[in-house]
Amino acid sequence: MNNSYIENLRTALTVSPENMPLRKMFATALLTEGVTNEAEIEFKKILQATPTDLDSKLGLTKAFFANGKLSEAEIIAEELIAAEQSSADMYLLIAQIALKKDNPHRAFEFYNTAISIDKSLIDNSLADAINDQLVKQGLAKPISTISETDELDSIFTDIEKPKIKFADVGGMSIVKEEIALKVIHPIKNPQIYAAFGKKIGGGVLLYGPPGCGKTMLARATAGEISANFINVGINDVLDMWIGGSEKNLHDIFQTARASTPSVLFFDEVDALGANRSDLRNTNGRFVINQFLDELDGVRYSNDGILILAATNTPWYLDPAFRRPGRFDRIIFVAPPDFNARVEVFKIHLKSVPTEGIEIEDLAKLTDTFSGADIKAIVDIAVESKLPQSLKLGRVVPVTQFDLKQAIKNHRSTTKEWFATAKNYALYANHGGLYDDILKYLKIKN
Ligand SMILES: Nc1ncnc2c1ncn2[C@@H]1O[C@H](COP(=O)(O)OP(=O)(O)O)[C@@H](O)[C@H]1O
Ligand SMILES: [Mg+2]
Repeated sequence: MNNSYIENLRTALTVSPENMPLRKMFATALLTEGVTNEAEIEFKKILQATPTDLDSKLGLTKAFFANGKLSEAEIIAEELIAAEQSSADMYLLIAQIALKKDNPHRAFEFYNTAISIDKSLIDNSLADAINDQLVKQGLAKPISTISETDELDSIFTDIEKPKIKFADVGGMSIVKEEIALKVIHPIKNPQIYAAFGKKIGGGVLLYGPPGCGKTMLARATAGEISANFINVGINDVLDMWIGGSEKNLHDIFQTARASTPSVLFFDEVDALGANRSDLRNTNGRFVINQFLDELDGVRYSNDGILILAATNTPWYLDPAFRRPGRFDRIIFVAPPDFNARVEVFKIHLKSVPTEGIEIEDLAKLTDTFSGADIKAIVDIAVESKLPQSLKLGRVVPVTQFDLKQAIKNHRSTTKEWFATAKNYALYANHGGLYDDILKYLKIKN
């Protein structure tokens, strides 16, 4: 494009001044060539004739911006965004305006939105400028202080190699089978899965009442395949520094990628997308987007990583998590049934000196109790024997009576959860998402 192109258009317009498509080409050419004052005039003329022309609104906004009319530019840009007529470059423009107006936080948000829509808009000098202002206002750490290596070390020294296996988790035979089928077999026999054209990947989400062994099972999954276990709590991710949470998430995934085979476990994963109002979480959307990006393994491969997540409140989970290839396998972890409770009692009584115990009796008395409830009962019974043991100077075994006593004084902790869950299962059961809850409650077969 050159000036003769502009001059030709100018001449053509004197012949047919009402030709708006032609005038639009002219105005756009002016804008591109940096003749922004004239571009502004031309776009205004077009909008007088065709007030809803979107391209011209965008053009005028850019011209305003170029001519230093920041507020005018901002008003139209926001109008376009509010009317959902916007494009990524409008977000970028607002980011640039916000930066000029000394509001780096807003600049950061809009810049992120722009590049999450259109990656080609990534602009390192703009990002640096935003970051510089954030640092000046005490809202971000200087880049130089967050070198890759020390950040990786500081977040995750806690890669575990769990010793517990499936056998150490009572009951849950169906859940264990599903995990074996859906994640362990594919990771152990990738060639077979490839031969059947099955794609490996995506994560498994465990949900259910608290204390029923979700975390324990995730750990045991790693133990079962001798993989590294990385337990990510929400506090490992969320960072008060702008952009810090996204970086933490990326580092966490990189750690898992550097230590395959690994089980990457996100506990209370719903909190990643929860609505919050404090500053660090106004960026919740970005954190979720980063999480989905990492999960999708677009830029880096997630081969050899098994991604598990758990939540007690699946209804707060961002629906984007459930798309194919992400957490498309969602498993209900119910309170242990009778046989499972027998197993859980056995597991927790294994190293306890006992006398005359009838485990099946105990299991009958603990309907709806969680695994954690059962563990608490054993702990209470053991403690009740301590004073006596100390006095006599020898271990006094726990009896059936002690355990029954403890059961009597303990309330099942899962009931409250079901009271809430039932409502979601009945009234927000999208696509049968919570059918397992209804089945457990015998509301549905
Ligand atoms: N199925 C189970 N078998 C043995 N112990 C269990 C089981 N479920 C829960 N527990 C006990 O309860 C504790 C808490 O369980 P956890 O896995 O943290 O539950 P959740 O993650 O579902 O809230 C465990 O550390 C374990 O001691
Ligand atoms: Mg847990």
